[in-house]
Amino acid sequence: MAEAAHTPCVFSGIQPSGNLHLGNYLGALKRFVETQDRGIQSIYCVVDLHAVTVWQDPAALAHATRELTAGFIASGLDPERSILFNQSQVAEHAQMAWVFNCVARMGWMKRMTQFKDKAGKNAEQASLGLFAYPALMAADILVYHATHVPVGEDQKQHLELTQEIARKFNHDYGVEFFPVTEPVIEGAATRVMSLRDGTKKMSKSDPSDMSRINLTDDADTIARKIRKAKTDPEPLPETVKGLEARPEARNLVNIYAALAGESVEAVLADLGGRPFSEFKPALADLAVEHLAPISAEMARLMQDAAEIDRILARGAERARAIAAPILRETYRIMGMVGA
Ligand code: AMP
Ligand code: TRP
Repeated sequence: MAEAAHTPCVFSGIQPSGNLHLGNYLGALKRFVETQDRGIQSIYCVVDLHAVTVWQDPAALAHATRELTAGFIASGLDPERSILFNQSQVAEHAQMAWVFNCVARMGWMKRMTQFKDKAGKNAEQASLGLFAYPALMAADILVYHATHVPVGEDQKQHLELTQEIARKFNHDYGVEFFPVTEPVIEGAATRVMSLRDGTKKMSKSDPSDMSRINLTDDADTIARKIRKAKTDPEPLPETVKGLEARPEARNLVNIYAALAGESVEAVLADLGGRPFSEFKPALADLAVEHLAPISAEMARLMQDAAEIDRILARGAERARAIAAPILRETYRIMGMVGA
């Protein structure tokens, strides 16, 4: 089916659930800033409505929403050039989600692996919102006619569902209204692994704080975590092939390359043959050099919650200006009187 041409527009969302870490920075925030800097229309959303699909303490949710916003800005996101807001302030997301609840099929939703993982054995006790989560995600994206969505590998299935929803709506109503959005899945270098186990993703839910570098860690903490990071006894290899079957070494080299903005080959050409006792301090210096200004800026921004709230309100207003006409047109296509 020929798709109508849509202007490039990037949308992505992150849940405000606390503990922003190096994986979020390299895998999401830093990439979002690069997109903005290429001059593509970019919309970034703190998805608080998604967060409440599992219970959230209200004060913690508000804090995490502001902290994530501060993290975006401290990482270089310019709330004037990009649009930065929290989902619940733009009612069109929830309204479009209802439409998509009626487009998506039960069978599609039942196949979602994230639901199965999150609901666990006790699916009967999961919220209806957790089951409908991917329809809200499709609404986030399609209510802006976004064409590209940078996400992690784990979100691929949800993006495929978003495409299915767009196709089915277009087909059922005989229109070419919604774009079939393309996922932009991160490369291997942006999959940051745990500092304690190179085969596990760095994650906010890992019980060990030593497994991750938080964006709120101070310089000493960052250096200590890198010093204690798990490694093997061999020196760094000279070639990328030499990192195979050495997950911890590969992870630290990937982190170094991503922070330095160099290729893994270039890092190994420079540092291959060095023992970890030399490599780790170099990595710690690099990490502190990059992350300390971000964490300092986050702390500074967090002291003025009112200013963060103003930024989110202004972002929401700009988001609504795009979303409202698209929702209205969706309603009109469906035959809703008054749209
Ligand atoms: P999450 O905190 O898992 O909801 O993820 C928020 C964003 O950060 C998503 O775009 C993820 O793909 C990204 N992300 C989370 N953990 C990592 C990681 N260990 N490496 C790279 N990207 C990550
Ligand atoms: N489900 C995504 C995650 O857990 C977050 C998200 C919600 C999202 N809506 C989105 C990501 C829209 C991209 C586009 O990471």
